[in-house]
Amino acid sequence: MNMRQLLSIAGLAAVFLLAGCERPPTDTVQHGYRGTGMVQVYNPRTLDLKTEANVLPVALPLAPGDSPKASTLYKNVKVLGNLSNNEFTRLMLSMTSWVAPTEGCAYCHNPANFAEDSKYTKVVARRMIEMTRHINTDWKTHVAETGVTCYTCHRGNPVPSNIWFKEAEQDKGADFIGDRAGQNLAATSVGLSSLPSDPFTPFLLGELDIRINSTTALPTGNRHSIKQAEWTYGLMTHMSSALGVNCTYCHNTQSFANWKGNPPQRAVAWHGIRMARDLNTAYMEPLTSTFPEQRLGPTGDAPKANCATCHQGAYKPLNGQSMLKSFPELAGPGAEPTAPVKVAKK
Ligand code: HEC
Ligand code: HEC
Ligand code: HEC
Ligand code: HEC
Repeated sequence: MNMRQLLSIAGLAAVFLLAGCERPPTDTVQHGYRGTGMVQVYNPRTLDLKTEANVLPVALPLAPGDSPKASTLYKNVKVLGNLSNNEFTRLMLSMTSWVAPTEGCAYCHNPANFAEDSKYTKVVARRMIEMTRHINTDWKTHVAETGVTCYTCHRGNPVPSNIWFKEAEQDKGADFIGDRAGQNLAATSVGLSSLPSDPFTPFLLGELDIRINSTTALPTGNRHSIKQAEWTYGLMTHMSSALGVNCTYCHNTQSFANWKGNPPQRAVAWHGIRMARDLNTAYMEPLTSTFPEQRLGPTGDAPKANCATCHQGAYKPLNGQSMLKSFPELAGPGAEPTAPVKVAKK
């Protein structure tokens, strides 16, 4: 091989190696206390894209509350009965634009009989209204007064762009193929790393311990393995990419386990983990028999939410803008949950 060939190979290698890098310029912004080196790295180009993606849709004008109540006018309202007819109609129109703008009312309704619960989408939507109110009333530790609406997750799509299912068992094909133990896939769920590709089942559905660092010299109380640390790192990688931030947005990396001197965002994230777990166990999983088969995962489980379902790459969903204040009917009161109905499958 001559020098020229060698150089062109080296050149090609450099192109491949740099392909994963971000094109400059980048800005760094101090985030933690002075001297801790806790900075966030931003790229104005990607920030512009994020600003575009997080523009709020125009809210319909608030309806006056003096028309008769929905419960007196309609046959089958279990959750929204207290709304005035004007509020009720405004919410139906808004829900349509947030969740099914192309499909329209018929995505949830049989247009010949709006009272009928024959479509699974309507049954799911009723539960979603309750879930949204529950988030806004009982999870203020996370969503504060900003809150969420259907748009936070759906953004004009019937199925939010970020959902997850339990992973299917590895299909080994033959006995001599090794068990990859849920990792080594370069999975997008964990930022294309080889970390465990489903960190959601153990942490955002189950309650596996996230804390793996020992705080004593000898591992007396804490016997977590390196393997468990990899699951924690998988979750943390998801959290960082879901919010579009670095680890130092929540941690002083001098010690990941220590809470002292950490930004307040870490505590908000702690509540977020519990909230996601609650939504998945109390709202999404019980809908398993309501969803048609084609909407279920490879192991037959219901679709579920993670940090990215709401955040979609932003430090706060929709860059912290609140749509809830224009839709007080989704702020509560947290109604008694209705049992989801099993829809006859066609
Ligand atoms: C995303 C699903 C969804 C879409 C889209 C939707 N609705 Fe609804 N609609 C519901 C749910 C859920 C209820 C029941 C609410 C309750 O139980 O309190 C309902 C109830 C109703 C009712 C009461 C029917 C009765 O007699 O019980 C009317 C009327 C109605 N919707 C009109 C509309 C119109 C008009 C549109 C289109 C502009 C629309 N809806 C779009 C989910 C939807
Ligand atoms: C925290 C995020 C979140 C919020 C808020 C939310 N949803 Fe959903 N929604 C989901 C997830 C996750 C699914 C499951 C996706 C699927 O169906 O595959 C879903 C599914 C649905 C479906 C079924 C879609 C289908 O075809 O399978 C409907 C209809 C729906 N939501 C309506 C609503 C309405 C109406 C609201 C507001 C009152 C709302 N959602 C609020 C996360 C959310
Ligand atoms: C959005 C905030 C947030 C981001 C970003 C974040 N973490 Fe965490 N991290 C937390 C919270 C909250 C906990 C504690 C979770 C619990 O106890 O339920 C935690 C726990 C940990 C732990 C376990 C500490 C112990 O007590 O043993 C490690 C290790 C860790 N994070 C590493 C990382 C790494 C590496 C990154 C970047 C890839 C990262 N974190 C990004 C919030 C965050
Ligand atoms: C139901 C939607 C939803 C889900 C799911 C969700 N968040 Fe949030 N999160 C929000 C909203 C809304 C805010 C803004 C609250 C505010 O304005 O203070 C927020 C704020 C935050 C903040 C504070 C940011 C700051 O700069 O102050 C952190 C950190 C955070 N979320 C982390 C997480 C993590 C980690 C997860 C997953 C374990 C998660 N969130 C899941 C809706 C959600």
